[in-house]
Amino acid sequence: MAKKRIVSFTLNGRVEEFLCLPRQTLLEVLRDNLNQTGTKEGCSNGNCGACTVLIDGRPIDSCLVLAVEAEGAKIETIEGVAKSGELHPLQQAFLEDAALQCGICTPGFIMSAKALLDETLKPTEEQIRFGLAGNLCRCTGYDKIVKAVQHAAETRNQMIAEDQ
Ligand code: FES
Ligand code: FES
Repeated sequence: MAKKRIVSFTLNGRVEEFLCLPRQTLLEVLRDNLNQTGTKEGCSNGNCGACTVLIDGRPIDSCLVLAVEAEGAKIETIEGVAKSGELHPLQQAFLEDAALQCGICTPGFIMSAKALLDETLKPTEEQIRFGLAGNLCRCTGYDKIVKAVQHAAETRNQMIAEDQ
């Protein structure tokens, strides 16, 4: 049996060091070793996007990454999106705009949308649909999700303007 490896990365701003098998995916380690079950497992083969996390700011299917490959990376998951007890504008907009039903896809959509909003002040509908192209939802029909991301971008921009 393969020997366990020590891996260390930053998870939502906190350094985590843990033992894992070389074959374990980042998704498995997040859920099973680190008890961060907000990241969901859908297909486990890179098709659904339910397992999306940000690695150094980029949205990645965590089922396709080995945990050992994440050594030294900065990982963000849905657990780190709300700050100081306040929902992120994306989370608030998904709630207000009914952009979820069963919710299994929602953490992945939020992480992909966050990556987009972190880089784009006023994303067009095309940019939003492109940014979410790796995330599948069997319930909502997508329009409400796209509208929620547009709504979140407006709220976020208002917050930036108020801070200036
Ligand atoms: S669980 Fe990773 S893409 Fe579906
Ligand atoms: S809300 Fe059910 S899969 Fe998206």
